Amino acid sequence: MQNLMQKIISLCKRRGFVYPSSEIYGGFGSGYDFGPLGVEMKNNIKMAWWEEITQVQENIVGLDAAILMSPKVWDASGHLTAGFADELVECKKCHHRFRKDFLEKEKCPDCGGELTLPKKFNLMMKTFVGPVEDEASVAYLRAETCQGIYLNFLNVLNSSRLKIPFGIAQIGKAFRNEITPGNFIYRTREFEQMELQWFCHPKTANKFFEYWKGIRMKWYLSLGIKKENLRFKEIPKEELAHYAKRVVDIEYKFPFGWKEIEGIHNRGDWDLSNHSKHSGQDLRYVDELRSSSPSLRSVFDEETKEKYFPYIIETSAGADRSFLTFLIDAYHEIKGGRTKTTKAVKEEEVVLKLDKKLAPIKVAVLPLVKNKPELVKKAKEVYQMLKPHFVCQYDEADSIGRRYRRQDEIGTYLCLTLDFESLKQDDLTIRNRDTMKQQRVKINDLVRTLKEKLEN
Ligand code: GAP
Repeated sequence: MQNLMQKIISLCKRRGFVYPSSEIYGGFGSGYDFGPLGVEMKNNIKMAWWEEITQVQENIVGLDAAILMSPKVWDASGHLTAGFADELVECKKCHHRFRKDFLEKEKCPDCGGELTLPKKFNLMMKTFVGPVEDEASVAYLRAETCQGIYLNFLNVLNSSRLKIPFGIAQIGKAFRNEITPGNFIYRTREFEQMELQWFCHPKTANKFFEYWKGIRMKWYLSLGIKKENLRFKEIPKEELAHYAKRVVDIEYKFPFGWKEIEGIHNRGDWDLSNHSKHSGQDLRYVDELRSSSPSLRSVFDEETKEKYFPYIIETSAGADRSFLTFLIDAYHEIKGGRTKTTKAVKEEEVVLKLDKKLAPIKVAVLPLVKNKPELVKKAKEVYQMLKPHFVCQYDEADSIGRRYRRQDEIGTYLCLTLDFESLKQDDLTIRNRDTMKQQRVKINDLVRTLKEKLEN
């Protein structure tokens, strides 16, 4: 199965999904760069999340807070003081360092040497703000995006007409000085989170916890992840993060084992009460009226008229981990191939069966041959016509079979082929990536037909 990871990593590099960071300098262990196809696909994932959370769901607004915040935030949140640290051990011989909980044996996995006793290693990334590098100018790159949401809880309440229960959603970068990053983009030191903070009355927290668990699992399923590759995992009390009352992870069956892709957290009133205490601002909520959302009002009775710290139910997903999940789940190898090329191909053909919403390229325009100028001209006109509507590629190099295979490998949902008939009939063939069915369509009806196919 590790072989599959090698194939995915190689496909990512070869086709422009993901490159190692700072490669020309020998690499840098902190992160990866998303290439032309990768950035399209990652944007599609983020947009699918954003639409689900802020449009399909009710009573949720967005936010884009700064990455650098007052260092006091991280004191109040407990990241500098409480538990945001992993146990680190060092090999006494080769001096390599490891996360203790990742080790299978009590020996150095690299040289077999003896290990030191574990010590706590804080994961916050430190920097300095301004021209002087002293203690007073220390700041931290945020380790989770949600803190920016808690700091703006009052701002959002005071500038919107929201009433509890409501949510604030945010997508953005987070940074952790991970001791052992690894498994490609699964664990990196710089990554993106897609987080929803749902503020509710403490009495309704359990109900909403179940609600969000269900909604988040459905999101992955609705975007094509196979059911048998997803599961919930209840995290035992002794392993909970310092802020959490209850955590259920959504796990995916990666080639390297079942691993977390998203956490559903009941954070109780940890965040708002601690920020109240440390900032001196009263972040309690006064429940004057019922929920502003009619449908939520009928399901959850919120009328209490009391002053309280709302409980927070958080759904925290990684955009990069989602990316890897969608990529692995979509990856199909077809032995012997399924398209005819000029050579009798008996090799493997790769089809990336990404949901059409997530596919980086929606439509490829392919003239049957490139040595017929009228055909090439017409195909280029079609490409120009489609470009403002869909993310398209034009490709005329190599045989049509090879071009289909190239598009299948990057998950392009529809291929449009112009042949000699197209010159007479003013039409072309639409080929579906998954069914390989072909359909002739008039060019003047093309945009409407493609919209129907891509948007429904
Ligand atoms: N605000 C809560 C929070 O940050 P978390 O379980 O530490 O919770 C949530 O992180 C999600 O963020 C994870 O499920 C994962 O998808 C992503 N994530 C966390 N650390 C990561 C890392 N080092 N590299 C990539 N993604 C990471």
